[in-house]
Amino acid sequence: MSTLLTNIKSLLQVRNKELSFVAGKAMQELPAIDNAFLLIDDNGKIEDFGKMAYCPENAGETIDVSGKFVMPAFCDSHTHLVYAGSREIEYIDKVKGLSYEEIAKRGGGILNSAKRLHETSEDELFEQSLPRIEEIIRQGTCAVEIKSGYGLTTDDELKMLRVIRRLKETTPIEIKANFLGAHAFPLAYKNNRDGYVDLIINEMIPMVAAEELADFIDVFCDRGFFTVEQTDRILLAGIKHGLKPKIHANELDFSGGIQVGVKYNALSVDHLEYVGENELKSLAGSETMPTVLPGASFFLGLPYAPARKMIDYGLPLAIASDFNPGSSPSGNMKLMMSLALINMKLLPEEIFNAVTINTAYGMDLSEEFGSITKGKWANLIVTKPIPTKEFFPYAYGSNLIDSVFLKGLRY
Ligand code: NIG
Ligand code: FE
Repeated sequence: MSTLLTNIKSLLQVRNKELSFVAGKAMQELPAIDNAFLLIDDNGKIEDFGKMAYCPENAGETIDVSGKFVMPAFCDSHTHLVYAGSREIEYIDKVKGLSYEEIAKRGGGILNSAKRLHETSEDELFEQSLPRIEEIIRQGTCAVEIKSGYGLTTDDELKMLRVIRRLKETTPIEIKANFLGAHAFPLAYKNNRDGYVDLIINEMIPMVAAEELADFIDVFCDRGFFTVEQTDRILLAGIKHGLKPKIHANELDFSGGIQVGVKYNALSVDHLEYVGENELKSLAGSETMPTVLPGASFFLGLPYAPARKMIDYGLPLAIASDFNPGSSPSGNMKLMMSLALINMKLLPEEIFNAVTINTAYGMDLSEEFGSITKGKWANLIVTKPIPTKEFFPYAYGSNLIDSVFLKGLRY
């Protein structure tokens, strides 16, 4: 049955089909229709919308949303939300003065999560991850990218990816899987890092591809982690097996990660706390989406990525949550919007674009997600009654989401 939303206070992010992302000054535009209706067809797609004056009659189940805004649901293009256990105790070491890198060197951090994941069965890992998906749906996310990378052995990486596939099959959210075997060096390869790179290339990637477990390939290209040369080899091997690159770069230093990502036409390069003239030049004119993760800077007390500078340079910008147990234990995209407003000095319109159409692009979904467009999925957030759209990121601690529609169904 069709569903008709009426008396929408303002319908945000209304776009034509051709638009796949927005960049630079254009990010300040957020096309909207005040006092609007929106019609969802019985396949869950957006059939029609416009001013209330043109609202169809008897078009299906009618829901009056007076006083409420309607916007596209969030696309979260960077998460690690399949993990075992949690790391709150490690965070206390951080409170006591250790840095993220020091914790990692002591066998904490990613290796701590890898140990726990190894000890957790596939079924148990699925059971632990499912509530995180349910939570982010309630928080307004309709599409999420999930990485492996807490396995670090062939068997455990495959276990993670199979859990991601089960989540794809059993939950209503859209999921893209990203193979991140190159997240850290396991202890067994401490003194033979290239040996681990060889294992990724010669064993893991072919097996991941044979089981069709991943859409993307990722590498943590940064100081102390994977070098540019190693990243280059891994991306190339992934591409040969049909995986599109999306990488972690420049979180800890000017690592060269952005440039190697752009070289291989990565869908996105993510983190980007260290961005100078060379990085800006490399991104300009490329098809790679620069993606920032304000939750990680907030939680780790690290500098924020220079998002303002990137947009002013004319680049597009996406904002994702990085949901993971070590650097951002939250997938709440509304909170990420607030962090961007408060700490990155971005304008509300720029932020709405950065969490919808631009993140959809960063996970290769912008043809069907990320905007209010006829023919796209009716993936929507209906807000509680609020005075302005600016109120949404401003009221950073309030749950302002009334309901969420995924493919036309209300949650
Ligand atoms: O994106 N930077 C690398 N990886 C994750 C953190 C993973 C962890 O600490 O568990 C990130 O922030
Ligand atoms: Fe990450």
